[in-house]
Amino acid sequence: MRRKLVVGNWKMNGDLVRNRELLRALSPRVPDEVDCAVCVPFPYLAQARELLSGASIGLGAQDVCEFAEGAYTGEVSAAMLADFGCRYAIVGHSERRSMFGDDSALVGRKALAAMRAGLVPILCIGESLEERSSGGTEAVLRGQLDAVAEIVGASALSELVIAYEPVWAIGTGQAASPAQVQRVLSFVRGWLADRTSGADDVRILYGGSVKPESAGPLFGLPDSDGGLIGAASLIAAQFLGICEAARVASRDNMRQFEGLK
Ligand code: PGA
Repeated sequence: MRRKLVVGNWKMNGDLVRNRELLRALSPRVPDEVDCAVCVPFPYLAQARELLSGASIGLGAQDVCEFAEGAYTGEVSAAMLADFGCRYAIVGHSERRSMFGDDSALVGRKALAAMRAGLVPILCIGESLEERSSGGTEAVLRGQLDAVAEIVGASALSELVIAYEPVWAIGTGQAASPAQVQRVLSFVRGWLADRTSGADDVRILYGGSVKPESAGPLFGLPDSDGGLIGAASLIAAQFLGICEAARVASRDNMRQFEGLK
């Protein structure tokens, strides 16, 4: 069975003092039954690595350069992230796609660079409100996924974590409904199954205004393996509440699974 995964995306937030407080509050309290990670801004990787040593919280970055090394001023390579103990690198977050020109081909190259350095890419995909309203959700997601598959190759798809983050739900306080999320997650699972025998091993997360109250129903969905959490990952009580919802959802999934045997 897939383990639930809850990842905090701090975005461009934090400072040395607040990071220490947050990570000290989280470290002893995250549940063992769930995989948890925080994706911190680049300058704080060393601090986070030190504060998380011995804790069961994984470390990640929010982006990565497509190139391995060299004259790329301002960029950070996947090997550098690995050097700082990162396990994950987010690629293709909608804020990068919309504000920094990351198109799906570039996202694919970033995912490949991450994998080559032994990192797990967390590939974000999602549609805008306009695209959803015009019935284009699946076509948009298929386009984003196909472009990445073309670059990383079908055999590598099972090494990804995929995060479905509808653009209209990010930072709006309005999470997608469980029914909307399950429809998309099952579409993504089907897309994977058409390309790899490892589709059932891929963790598919939901992201977009997840809060402790909304996390339970979202994480309990058949194809849901946890969440990518923005604003609520900056508040210890909220992030821990979301991790707890993931623990409960995985316990319930386990019971259902045992019942089926
Ligand atoms: P949010 O952000 O939880 O603040 O909506 C999620 C994300 O952008 O990953």
